Amino acid sequence: MTDRKATLTIDGHAPIELPIYTPTIGHPVVDVGSLGSHGYFTYDPGFAATSSCQSEITYIDGDKGVLLHRGYPIEQLAEHSDYIETCYLLLEGHLPSAAEKIKFENIIRRHTMVSRSMESFFSGFRYDAHPMAMLCGAVGAMSSFYHDSLDITNQEHRTISAHRLIAKMPTLAAMCHKHFVGQPFIYPDNSLGYSENFLRMMFATPCEEYEVHPALAKAMDRIFLLHADHEQNASTSTVRLAGSSGANPFACIAAGIAALWGPAHGGANEAVLTMLAEIGHEDRCAEFVARAKDKNDPFRLMGFGHRVYKNYDPRATVMRQTCDEVLEVLGLENDPLFRLAKKLERIALEDEYFVSKNLYPNVDFYSGIILKALGIPVEMFTVIFATGRTVGWISHWNEMISNPYRIGRPRQLYTGAAQRDYTPVNQR
Ligand code: SDX
Repeated sequence: MTDRKATLTIDGHAPIELPIYTPTIGHPVVDVGSLGSHGYFTYDPGFAATSSCQSEITYIDGDKGVLLHRGYPIEQLAEHSDYIETCYLLLEGHLPSAAEKIKFENIIRRHTMVSRSMESFFSGFRYDAHPMAMLCGAVGAMSSFYHDSLDITNQEHRTISAHRLIAKMPTLAAMCHKHFVGQPFIYPDNSLGYSENFLRMMFATPCEEYEVHPALAKAMDRIFLLHADHEQNASTSTVRLAGSSGANPFACIAAGIAALWGPAHGGANEAVLTMLAEIGHEDRCAEFVARAKDKNDPFRLMGFGHRVYKNYDPRATVMRQTCDEVLEVLGLENDPLFRLAKKLERIALEDEYFVSKNLYPNVDFYSGIILKALGIPVEMFTVIFATGRTVGWISHWNEMISNPYRIGRPRQLYTGAAQRDYTPVNQR
């Protein structure tokens, strides 16, 4: 912290001194906590300039396109690490030694199965229930299976809950898919790596052997890694707010899943494919780009723009390389849908409106294309995002609960009716 202060003078009254805290890197922050005692609140809808907490997990510089997980650049983690190692890094704060990594991988492997009762839970969903609706319900229901470890003041309970969530999300995600396509659930195979195991649970059937292509398993692992955490985004902030009331970790992650579902957030990857289907052909790109620029048209180019990145999203750069690799491995470089996506990207990157508003392709633009190429149904895209982001959510939850915290309770600018007396209905 620091002894720097900001001075606020209102209507000629005595100046109000507000502490300024200095971060390791990034913007200093002004502590406005004492303003209430002076009769004022701050006002920042959407929290565009509001820090909700102090954190050591992830740092983003939107202007420079920087994303660090515990200080390590996302580009280096994407190139040299894997998802499970990145999970360890986010949870523990440092890269694991070789022995620590093997031990962590084995712990996660030992928790991949879900209770048999969960299968009957899925049978209660409509045959065509949206996978995100099923995932939200299933993860919230997990707290009904682990009464032995819901004491959030107990670090061991917090640790086993984090391990269970990271380990079981792929299993639950694949169960959502299997229910949606009407196929039998496939149990995890603990001889496989995390992402390979997930793809097998997604696409294998009891009728025949199923081999996961190594390049596709690597692409899936990179997608999980690139979605692992992203500072105080809408869903992570939702997890923290739910956690601040003392709710159990499974309920908090279910709240994060619900927040992620929206098309402005994690639902964007699904919305990208829906948009590409609506555009239909390369020749209509210009028409839709014009609509995206038209203030009277609510249409937005899904997969473009970001609240924080006002340059490029470093994850999108890595994801774009992965996208090219997957399309090449699958021989889809000339697939009309992917050619359309590439043309839309080219037009937007050259268009003055998008350039002037720093609307670059974000992580969701390319991840949607890769997931489609991997044969994952569009309805499952946000479930994949939630699976990768679970470690970020639970790491932030654990960071908050492990340190002194208060229940989150924002205030408001009230513009409703002043006090008035009730009038009986026969006098209205
Ligand atoms: C994620 O926060 C995170 O970190 C999120 C995330 C994570 O990892 O957790 O990175 C994941 O959510 C990525 C974003 C995925 N969403 C989309 O791709 C949906 C399309 N994008 C937009 O809806 C929008 O860009 C947001 C929601 C992402 C950002 O919205 P902001 O920061 O509130 O920006 P804004 O809505 O105020 O837009 C600023 C201007 C506006 O024009 P003006 O009113 O200034 O004239 O840019 C325009 C907007 O109309 N604009 C777009 C646009 N996005 C913004 N115009 C056309 N197409 C778009 N996609």
